[in-house]
Amino acid sequence: MNDLKRISLADYDIVFDKSLSALHDFLEDRSYSNLIILTDDITRKLCLPVLISFLPSLSEAPVISVPSGEQNKTLATCEEIWADMLRAKADRNAVVINLGGGVIGDMGGFAAACYKRGVDFIQIPTTVLSQVDSSIGGKLGVDFRYGKNLIGVFKNPALVLISTKFLESLPSRQIVNGFAEVFKHALIKDAQQWSALRGLDVLASDGLDEVLYQSLLVKKAVVEADPFEKGLRKILNFGHTIGHAVEAYSLQHDADPLLHGEAVAAGMIMEAWLGSQQCNLPEDVLKDIIQVLSKHYPHYSIAEDAFAEIWASMALDKKNAGSKVLAVSLRDIAQPVIDLEITPELLKAALAFYKTLA
Ligand SMILES: NC(=O)c1ccc[n+]([C@@H]2O[C@H](COP(=O)([O-])OP(=O)(O)OC[C@H]3O[C@@H](n4cnc5c(N)ncnc54)[C@H](O)[C@@H]3O)[C@@H](O)[C@H]2O)c1
Ligand SMILES: [Zn+2]
Repeated sequence: MNDLKRISLADYDIVFDKSLSALHDFLEDRSYSNLIILTDDITRKLCLPVLISFLPSLSEAPVISVPSGEQNKTLATCEEIWADMLRAKADRNAVVINLGGGVIGDMGGFAAACYKRGVDFIQIPTTVLSQVDSSIGGKLGVDFRYGKNLIGVFKNPALVLISTKFLESLPSRQIVNGFAEVFKHALIKDAQQWSALRGLDVLASDGLDEVLYQSLLVKKAVVEADPFEKGLRKILNFGHTIGHAVEAYSLQHDADPLLHGEAVAAGMIMEAWLGSQQCNLPEDVLKDIIQVLSKHYPHYSIAEDAFAEIWASMALDKKNAGSKVLAVSLRDIAQPVIDLEITPELLKAALAFYKTLA
């Protein structure tokens, strides 16, 4: 077990473990009263058999399965999960294993954190995005009426297990999608990893563990320094101020909307451009960022009349302070700048610049 890569945070470990022996040992150690596995309908089909092949004893555990997709990350789905947990007679010493992407991790963690005032949960993330991003940092929750992630809590998992085995069934578009956060982590805090990523084939599996591991080290360092997002943690929003708004716009208008990471890639290009205008980010660094990201993420052609809607959506973002729209930019690779104000004029110019890259 000692040769497993392990990242230790104050109250839990993230273990890289293809054979899932660490899960076996952890469960032996804890003697939980009930163990419940939460999946969505896709991970039930594609990931649960992999989990059980490594830990056959888990085939006895009750499985709660919910429909996949962000549209089901709701309180209504949580009610179904709680009802199923009650039917399975889960008591306060139960543990929930969240086997799935960020939707299952966020919602299953939240459901566990509320059930009978809180039971333990284990994250087994099965997408790149959830492996490098959502499964650590303790943010849990669901979407509610007016927007994403509006209802939730901070609570840490008992354990996070990362196995790239699960990624074998993940469609390549989803892999590239999750890699946007890997690029982001490198750009905000790890120049060496950024260099390594330049030539990386993100769909090749060799070296993937190391890339994910380095990426998680960035997120760990940031969330440990600022667990409740009072300051430094804001740097994780690089690319997300404009990216979220572009994502929301695409969701409203496109038959095949952008995935989160695809929108964030466009957001990172525009927010890096803002850095070149406002924070002295050197031109050649901007070019380098654009070149690397454009290799993986197709250019999104933003409609001429999209500005008003994108601006309105940015102005609504819950991360803003007062009436100002704030973003994160860079003054160089691994040198983020927080609280950069974006005015409507700057956004217009950033969108116009992005258009020139088509
Ligand atoms: N808590 C946080 O800090 C944090 C950070 C970033 C994102 N998030 C949240 O994460 C969510 C997005 O996560 P996501 O991109 O993993 O989405 P997701 O959970 O919806 O997964 C994407 C799709 O892939 C499928 N899937 C999952 N694993 C698979 C596998 N191994 N093989 C084949 N298909 C598989 C899922 O069923 C789903 O259809 C959003 O709700 C977002 O708000 C949370
Ligand atoms: Zn993101």
